[in-house]
Amino acid sequence: MSARIEGSGLEEVVAATTRLSDVDGEHGRLVLAGYPVEDIAGRVDFEDAIYLLFTGALPTAAQRSSLREALGDAREAAFERMGELGDALALPDAMDALRASVAHLGVVAGEEPLSEAVRIVSAVAVFAAAWAHQPAPLRPDPRLPHAADYLRMVAGRTPTTAEVAALDAYLVTVIDHGMNASTFAARVVASTASDTVSAVVAAIGALKGKLHGGAPGPVLDMLDAIGEPEQARAWVTAALARGERVMGMGHRVYRVRDPRAFVLERAIAELEASSNASSPIGRRLRLARAVEKEAEAQLAARHPDRPLKANVEFYTAVLLEALGLPRTLFTPTFASSRAAGWCAHVDEQRTHGRLIRPKSRYVNLPAPTR
Ligand code: COA
Repeated sequence: MSARIEGSGLEEVVAATTRLSDVDGEHGRLVLAGYPVEDIAGRVDFEDAIYLLFTGALPTAAQRSSLREALGDAREAAFERMGELGDALALPDAMDALRASVAHLGVVAGEEPLSEAVRIVSAVAVFAAAWAHQPAPLRPDPRLPHAADYLRMVAGRTPTTAEVAALDAYLVTVIDHGMNASTFAARVVASTASDTVSAVVAAIGALKGKLHGGAPGPVLDMLDAIGEPEQARAWVTAALARGERVMGMGHRVYRVRDPRAFVLERAIAELEASSNASSPIGRRLRLARAVEKEAEAQLAARHPDRPLKANVEFYTAVLLEALGLPRTLFTPTFASSRAAGWCAHVDEQRTHGRLIRPKSRYVNLPAPTR
């Protein structure tokens, strides 16, 4: 017998005060350090968003270029350290490899929070790209903007300006998102006065799950299985009848369409506009839109009181595929951006927070039979 304890998902519980982001689930609004996501994603670089999280303001050109240089140097340093990672990057699952390799990063005494974030964010990107290129990972090019170099290290070719812009739009979109599960995990670890690397390792573990950051790969598997827009209805009907969840649909907080879905859909459309006529992006986008429409309608019929609409992962899948990333790298790429958010939350928790230690309610039930 299993008992569902009321409130066990901590819905509505406020666990921290933050200036980093605000998620308004009723109205579908996401604000990143004062800026609506749709106003900055696709308009500023990933470097700018990192700077914004840590300082509360967008950088000047000089500040951007100095942060870009610091990220480049840190990517190089992370690459140089890869010999110390043992067989971490040989693990078959990319997120396992990321968790194990990031765990090797040490604590640097007296390091400033932004410098520490730069070191960790760069390492996540380098390790993720290296995992995809085992046994001969590509060396970072520290002169490149972060998104351009990440794409280059993953794809093994120089990306186009439009591809870099699309990846920047993605990285900015997902850099932070309220008290999501991985950020909460990071803050819980930080609240014990542990170090930032330990907090990020915990967050990577939380992000891996398919209810959190692990959904975009399965979204593409679903699109592959459906194949054509005309098949969407029958496929969704059958999946729901089997009791399956439609990946990329539904959200714990949003009761309307996830605002990040709009931003990413816009980025995909811009990428498509810059691609040649033979590009498969447009076809994929049309399929995704058909599946979303069908899934939204059928979920609304099944759950009239619980709106279940597209979340960030739905169009993440389409965007990252269009950029040529293997689906095994989707969640690590998410981590390569969110790592900045985790580090900023760790800094905030350390500065203002208290030990996070909720209570449990004891119920005298027999152990479940399995
Ligand atoms: N497909 C089908 N049914 C879904 C669904 C989905 N994507 N998401 C939620 N539901 C159903 C649940 O089965 C549940 O039905 P029930 O009341 O009959 O048992 C109901 O909607 C409420 O779901 P619940 O699990 O309470 O919602 P939650 O807030 O805990 O879950 C998610 C939020 C994101 C975990 C959930 O929507 C989900 O699993 N989505 C798919 C995975 C995904 O896209 N993850 C990325 C999130 S950004």
